[in-house]
Amino acid sequence: MNFENLKPQVTAILSEANIEREVKLKALCQFLFDHVDYYNWVGFYFADHENKTLHLGPYVGAETDHTVIPFGKGICGQVAESNANFVVPDVAAQDNYIACSFTVKSEIVVPLFVNGKNIGQIDIDSHVLNPFSTADERFLEFVNEEVAKLF
Ligand code: SME
Repeated sequence: MNFENLKPQVTAILSEANIEREVKLKALCQFLFDHVDYYNWVGFYFADHENKTLHLGPYVGAETDHTVIPFGKGICGQVAESNANFVVPDVAAQDNYIACSFTVKSEIVVPLFVNGKNIGQIDIDSHVLNPFSTADERFLEFVNEEVAKLF
């Protein structure tokens, strides 16, 4: 996967004038979903630090029941507390995991920092086992740096 080719389009989607942040984020999810074949669910969760919960934001892919996730629960909830990327090559090997669909085999979650604070995350599910590499991590960190400029 050549992520370098995707970067300018990520920036372009996020810097369009007169478009609401939610709409841009949804367009970004759609772009990633369409251009990386093993990205089979792409979405954002945003943190409510007072209540220690994550809330589903824009996403593309199958509908999910997990619109609110407590900090610490699942891969997403753990990233809310660890502030670190979490790459799961095989979700079946995780104890603290929230299953959305039996078709999901792997997951990557990368925190979104605004002024050094973890305000949420990008969450990607894949139907493929072990598809994510450090290239995905670096790319999604870039994506989140671009997203952070909208806050
Ligand atoms: N699998 C996630 C839950 C969110 S869904 O993937 C959309 C988790 O364990 O946190």
